[in-house]
Amino acid sequence: MNQRPIAVFDSGLGGLSVVRHLRHLLPGEEIVYFGDTARVPYGTKSSPTVTNFALEDARYLQRFDPKLLVVACNTASALALDALVQDSPVPVVGVVAPGAQAAARLAQDGTIVVLGTEATIQSGAYPAAIRALAPEAQVIPIACPLFVPLVEEGRDGDDPIVRLTVATYLAPLRGAAVRVVVLGCTHYPLLRETIAAELPAGVHIVDSGRETSLTVREFLRRDGSLSDGASAGSMRFYVSDNPERMRRVGARFLREALEQVEFVAPEQYISGALECSAD
Ligand code: DGL
Repeated sequence: MNQRPIAVFDSGLGGLSVVRHLRHLLPGEEIVYFGDTARVPYGTKSSPTVTNFALEDARYLQRFDPKLLVVACNTASALALDALVQDSPVPVVGVVAPGAQAAARLAQDGTIVVLGTEATIQSGAYPAAIRALAPEAQVIPIACPLFVPLVEEGRDGDDPIVRLTVATYLAPLRGAAVRVVVLGCTHYPLLRETIAAELPAGVHIVDSGRETSLTVREFLRRDGSLSDGASAGSMRFYVSDNPERMRRVGARFLREALEQVEFVAPEQYISGALECSAD
Protein backbone atom coordinates (compact mmCIF):
# COMPACT_ATOMS: atom_id res chain seq x y z
CA MET A 1 0.00 0.00 0.00
CA ASN A 2 1.15 3.51 -0.80
CA GLN A 3 -0.87 6.63 0.01
CA ARG A 4 1.33 9.05 -1.95
CA PRO A 5 -0.37 10.81 -4.90
CA ILE A 6 -0.17 10.05 -8.60
CA ALA A 7 1.27 13.12 -10.34
CA VAL A 8 -0.05 13.99 -13.81
CA PHE A 9 1.04 16.75 -16.13
CA ASP A 10 -0.08 18.04 -19.48
CA SER A 11 0.56 21.06 -21.69
CA GLY A 12 -2.76 22.44 -20.50
CA LEU A 13 -6.19 21.14 -19.60
CA GLY A 14 -6.44 18.31 -22.17
CA GLY A 15 -4.79 15.86 -19.79
CA LEU A 16 -8.02 15.89 -17.80
CA SER A 17 -9.33 13.42 -20.40
CA VAL A 18 -6.69 11.04 -19.00
CA VAL A 19 -7.47 11.91 -15.37
CA ARG A 20 -11.12 11.03 -16.08
CA HIS A 21 -10.08 7.41 -16.74
CA LEU A 22 -7.64 7.33 -13.81
CA ARG A 23 -10.48 8.43 -11.53
CA HIS A 24 -12.79 5.79 -12.91
CA LEU A 25 -10.27 2.93 -12.71
CA LEU A 26 -8.54 4.04 -9.49
CA PRO A 27 -11.18 5.84 -7.41
CA GLY A 28 -9.16 5.59 -4.18
CA GLU A 29 -6.06 7.37 -5.52
CA GLU A 30 -5.09 10.95 -4.80
CA ILE A 31 -4.22 12.83 -8.00
CA VAL A 32 -2.19 16.00 -8.30
CA TYR A 33 -2.25 17.65 -11.75
CA PHE A 34 -0.14 20.36 -13.32
CA GLY A 35 -1.39 21.98 -16.53
CA ASP A 36 1.07 24.28 -18.26
CA THR A 37 -1.69 26.58 -19.52
CA ALA A 38 0.71 29.52 -19.86
CA ARG A 39 2.79 27.74 -22.52
CA VAL A 40 0.17 25.57 -24.27
CA PRO A 41 0.13 24.38 -27.06
CA TYR A 42 3.10 22.02 -27.14
CA GLY A 43 1.90 20.39 -30.36
CA THR A 44 3.29 23.12 -32.60
CA LYS A 45 6.65 23.49 -30.80
CA SER A 46 10.10 22.03 -31.44
CA SER A 47 11.41 18.96 -29.69
CA PRO A 48 14.00 20.80 -27.51
CA THR A 49 11.37 23.30 -26.34
CA VAL A 50 8.82 20.61 -25.51
CA THR A 51 11.52 18.61 -23.69
CA ASN A 52 12.55 21.61 -21.58
CA PHE A 53 8.95 22.47 -20.72
CA ALA A 54 8.15 18.85 -19.88
CA LEU A 55 11.18 18.57 -17.58
CA GLU A 56 10.12 21.72 -15.75
CA ASP A 57 6.52 20.48 -15.40
CA ALA A 58 7.71 17.13 -14.04
CA ARG A 59 10.16 18.73 -11.61
CA TYR A 60 7.46 21.04 -10.30
CA LEU A 61 5.31 18.02 -9.40
CA GLN A 62 8.09 16.39 -7.37
CA ARG A 63 7.28 18.75 -4.47
CA PHE A 64 4.13 16.67 -3.87
CA ASP A 65 6.24 13.53 -3.30
CA PRO A 66 4.34 11.41 -5.84
CA LYS A 67 4.68 7.66 -6.19
CA LEU A 68 4.34 7.81 -9.98
CA LEU A 69 4.43 10.40 -12.76
CA VAL A 70 1.94 10.20 -15.64
CA VAL A 71 2.74 12.19 -18.79
CA ALA A 72 -0.80 12.78 -20.03
CA CYS A 73 0.34 14.92 -22.95
CA ASN A 74 0.87 12.90 -26.13
CA THR A 75 3.27 15.51 -27.52
CA ALA A 76 5.44 15.46 -24.38
CA SER A 77 5.29 11.66 -24.28
CA ALA A 78 6.32 11.43 -27.94
CA LEU A 79 9.18 13.93 -27.72
CA ALA A 80 10.44 13.88 -24.15
CA LEU A 81 9.75 10.53 -22.49
CA ASP A 82 13.38 9.37 -22.39
CA ALA A 83 14.53 12.66 -20.87
CA LEU A 84 11.71 12.51 -18.32
CA VAL A 85 12.53 8.93 -17.32
CA GLN A 86 16.20 9.81 -16.86
CA ASP A 87 15.38 12.89 -14.81
CA SER A 88 12.63 11.49 -12.60
CA PRO A 89 13.18 10.00 -9.15
CA VAL A 90 9.90 8.06 -9.52
CA PRO A 91 8.58 5.76 -12.28
CA VAL A 92 7.15 7.52 -15.35
CA VAL A 93 4.28 6.36 -17.56
CA GLY A 94 3.66 8.11 -20.90
CA VAL A 95 0.66 7.74 -23.17
CA VAL A 96 2.40 6.58 -26.37
CA ALA A 97 3.45 3.05 -25.37
CA PRO A 98 0.04 2.02 -23.93
CA GLY A 99 -1.75 3.42 -27.01
CA ALA A 100 0.68 1.66 -29.36
CA GLN A 101 0.30 -1.65 -27.49
CA ALA A 102 -3.49 -1.55 -27.79
CA ALA A 103 -3.24 -0.66 -31.50
CA ALA A 104 -0.81 -3.49 -32.26
CA ARG A 105 -3.01 -5.97 -30.36
CA LEU A 106 -6.21 -4.97 -32.20
CA ALA A 107 -4.82 -4.46 -35.70
CA GLN A 108 -4.22 -8.06 -36.78
CA ASP A 109 -3.25 -7.48 -40.42
CA GLY A 110 -5.19 -4.25 -40.89
CA THR A 111 -3.92 -0.71 -41.17
CA ILE A 112 -3.40 1.44 -38.08
CA VAL A 113 -4.08 5.17 -38.31
CA VAL A 114 -2.51 7.50 -35.75
CA LEU A 115 -4.03 10.95 -35.26
CA GLY A 116 -2.01 13.54 -33.33
CA THR A 117 -0.57 17.03 -33.16
CA GLU A 118 2.00 18.18 -35.70
CA ALA A 119 4.87 17.54 -33.26
CA THR A 120 3.62 14.08 -32.24
CA ILE A 121 3.23 13.01 -35.87
CA GLN A 122 6.58 14.50 -36.91
CA SER A 123 8.35 12.66 -34.09
CA GLY A 124 7.38 9.27 -35.51
CA ALA A 125 7.04 7.98 -31.93
CA TYR A 126 3.74 6.12 -32.42
CA PRO A 127 4.76 4.26 -35.63
CA ALA A 128 8.10 3.33 -33.99
CA ALA A 129 6.36 1.97 -30.86
CA ILE A 130 3.80 0.07 -32.97
CA ARG A 131 6.43 -1.43 -35.29
CA ALA A 132 8.52 -2.56 -32.32
CA LEU A 133 5.56 -4.81 -31.45
CA ALA A 134 4.24 -5.55 -34.94
CA PRO A 135 7.08 -5.07 -37.48
CA GLU A 136 4.84 -5.62 -40.50
CA ALA A 137 2.15 -3.19 -39.39
CA GLN A 138 0.95 -0.60 -41.90
CA VAL A 139 0.75 2.72 -40.04
CA ILE A 140 -0.71 5.92 -41.47
CA PRO A 141 0.07 8.99 -39.32
CA ILE A 142 -2.13 12.08 -39.78
CA ALA A 143 -1.55 15.44 -38.10
CA CYS A 144 -4.83 17.14 -37.16
CA PRO A 145 -3.76 20.55 -35.79
CA LEU A 146 -7.23 22.12 -35.96
CA PHE A 147 -8.81 19.61 -33.57
CA VAL A 148 -7.29 21.13 -30.39
CA PRO A 149 -8.63 24.70 -30.88
CA LEU A 150 -12.03 23.41 -32.07
CA VAL A 151 -12.46 21.27 -28.96
CA GLU A 152 -11.26 24.00 -26.60
CA GLU A 153 -13.75 26.38 -28.18
CA GLY A 154 -16.49 24.02 -27.06
CA ARG A 155 -17.61 22.94 -30.51
CA ASP A 156 -19.15 19.50 -30.47
CA GLY A 157 -19.59 16.76 -33.05
CA ASP A 158 -22.79 18.28 -34.47
CA ASP A 159 -20.99 21.46 -35.43
CA PRO A 160 -20.61 21.71 -39.25
CA ILE A 161 -17.06 23.11 -38.93
CA VAL A 162 -16.06 20.10 -36.81
CA ARG A 163 -17.65 17.66 -39.24
CA LEU A 164 -15.94 19.30 -42.22
CA THR A 165 -12.56 19.38 -40.46
CA VAL A 166 -12.76 15.72 -39.43
CA ALA A 167 -13.85 14.68 -42.94
CA THR A 168 -10.99 16.69 -44.50
CA TYR A 169 -8.28 15.16 -42.29
CA LEU A 170 -9.63 11.63 -42.76
CA ALA A 171 -10.21 11.94 -46.53
CA PRO A 172 -6.88 10.25 -47.46
CA LEU A 173 -8.16 7.09 -45.74
CA ARG A 174 -10.87 6.40 -48.31
CA GLY A 175 -10.22 2.94 -49.72
CA ALA A 176 -7.61 2.02 -47.05
CA ALA A 177 -8.19 -1.17 -45.03
CA VAL A 178 -8.31 0.69 -41.72
CA ARG A 179 -8.70 -1.54 -38.68
CA VAL A 180 -7.58 0.74 -35.82
CA VAL A 181 -7.51 4.48 -35.24
CA VAL A 182 -5.40 5.78 -32.35
CA LEU A 183 -6.58 9.01 -30.73
CA GLY A 184 -3.03 10.23 -30.08
CA CYS A 185 -3.87 13.55 -28.44
CA THR A 186 -5.57 14.50 -25.18
CA HIS A 187 -8.34 16.42 -26.97
CA TYR A 188 -9.40 13.87 -29.57
CA PRO A 189 -11.55 11.66 -27.31
CA LEU A 190 -14.02 14.57 -27.27
CA LEU A 191 -14.40 14.11 -31.05
CA ARG A 192 -14.62 10.34 -30.88
CA GLU A 193 -18.17 10.02 -32.24
CA THR A 194 -17.52 12.38 -35.15
CA ILE A 195 -14.30 10.56 -36.06
CA ALA A 196 -16.07 7.18 -35.83
CA ALA A 197 -18.84 8.44 -38.13
CA GLU A 198 -16.24 9.05 -40.88
CA LEU A 199 -14.89 5.50 -40.67
CA PRO A 200 -16.31 2.18 -41.83
CA ALA A 201 -18.21 0.24 -39.15
CA GLY A 202 -16.05 -2.08 -37.07
CA VAL A 203 -12.93 0.10 -36.90
CA HIS A 204 -11.43 -0.01 -33.38
CA ILE A 205 -10.82 3.36 -31.80
CA VAL A 206 -8.00 3.43 -29.25
CA ASP A 207 -8.06 6.16 -26.60
CA SER A 208 -4.44 6.38 -25.50
CA GLY A 209 -5.51 8.04 -22.23
CA ARG A 210 -7.73 5.11 -21.27
CA GLU A 211 -5.02 2.60 -22.20
CA THR A 212 -2.54 4.57 -20.08
CA SER A 213 -4.87 4.48 -17.08
CA LEU A 214 -5.13 0.69 -17.42
CA THR A 215 -1.31 0.52 -17.53
CA VAL A 216 -1.06 2.69 -14.41
CA ARG A 217 -3.51 0.46 -12.51
CA GLU A 218 -1.58 -2.66 -13.55
CA PHE A 219 1.75 -1.09 -12.57
CA LEU A 220 0.51 -0.05 -9.11
CA ARG A 221 -1.07 -3.46 -8.52
CA ARG A 222 2.11 -5.33 -9.41
CA ASP A 223 4.23 -2.90 -7.43
CA GLY A 224 2.00 -3.30 -4.37
CA SER A 225 1.60 0.47 -4.27
CA LEU A 226 -2.14 1.02 -4.72
CA SER A 227 -3.68 3.23 -2.05
CA ASP A 228 -5.55 1.41 0.70
CA GLY A 229 -8.81 2.76 -0.79
CA ALA A 230 -10.15 3.53 2.69
CA SER A 231 -11.48 6.86 1.44
CA ALA A 232 -12.36 8.34 -1.95
CA GLY A 233 -9.34 9.80 -3.73
CA SER A 234 -9.07 13.57 -3.96
CA MET A 235 -7.80 15.76 -6.80
CA ARG A 236 -5.75 18.94 -6.75
CA PHE A 237 -5.12 21.02 -9.86
CA TYR A 238 -2.36 23.54 -10.51
CA VAL A 239 -2.03 25.69 -13.63
CA SER A 240 0.53 28.17 -14.91
CA ASP A 241 -2.21 30.53 -16.19
CA ASN A 242 -5.93 31.24 -15.92
CA PRO A 243 -7.39 28.89 -13.26
CA GLU A 244 -10.89 30.16 -14.06
CA ARG A 245 -10.68 28.89 -17.66
CA MET A 246 -9.30 25.57 -16.44
CA ARG A 247 -12.33 25.22 -14.13
CA ARG A 248 -14.80 26.14 -16.86
CA VAL A 249 -13.38 24.33 -19.91
CA GLY A 250 -11.72 21.50 -17.97
CA ALA A 251 -15.01 20.15 -16.64
CA ARG A 252 -15.90 18.96 -20.17
CA PHE A 253 -12.73 16.86 -20.30
CA LEU A 254 -12.96 15.56 -16.73
CA ARG A 255 -16.75 15.17 -16.79
CA GLU A 256 -16.94 16.45 -13.24
CA ALA A 257 -16.44 19.79 -11.56
CA LEU A 258 -12.92 20.93 -10.72
CA GLU A 259 -13.18 22.11 -7.14
CA GLN A 260 -9.64 23.19 -6.38
CA VAL A 261 -7.58 24.93 -9.11
CA GLU A 262 -4.58 27.01 -8.07
CA PHE A 263 -2.34 29.37 -10.02
CA VAL A 264 1.38 28.60 -10.02
CA ALA A 265 3.75 31.53 -10.55
CA PRO A 266 6.57 31.15 -13.12
CA GLU A 267 9.34 31.16 -10.51
CA GLN A 268 7.85 27.98 -9.05
CA TYR A 269 8.18 25.88 -12.20
CA ILE A 270 10.61 27.65 -14.56
CA SER A 271 14.07 26.55 -13.61
CA GLY A 272 15.82 28.41 -16.43
CA ALA A 273 18.28 25.53 -16.70
CA LEU A 274 17.66 24.50 -20.28
CA GLU A 275 18.56 20.90 -21.03
CA CYS A 276 18.87 21.41 -24.76
CA SER A 277 18.50 24.22 -27.27
CA ALA A 278 16.36 24.51 -30.39
CA ASP A 279 19.39 25.33 -32.60
N1 DGL B 1 -1.89 17.86 -24.81
C1 DGL B 1 -1.46 17.90 -26.20
C2 DGL B 1 -1.29 16.46 -26.71
O1 DGL B 1 -1.87 15.53 -26.20
C3 DGL B 1 -2.45 18.67 -27.06
C4 DGL B 1 -2.43 20.17 -26.84
C5 DGL B 1 -1.10 20.81 -27.21
O2 DGL B 1 -0.76 20.92 -28.41
O3 DGL B 1 -0.37 21.17 -26.30
O4 DGL B 1 -0.57 16.26 -27.66
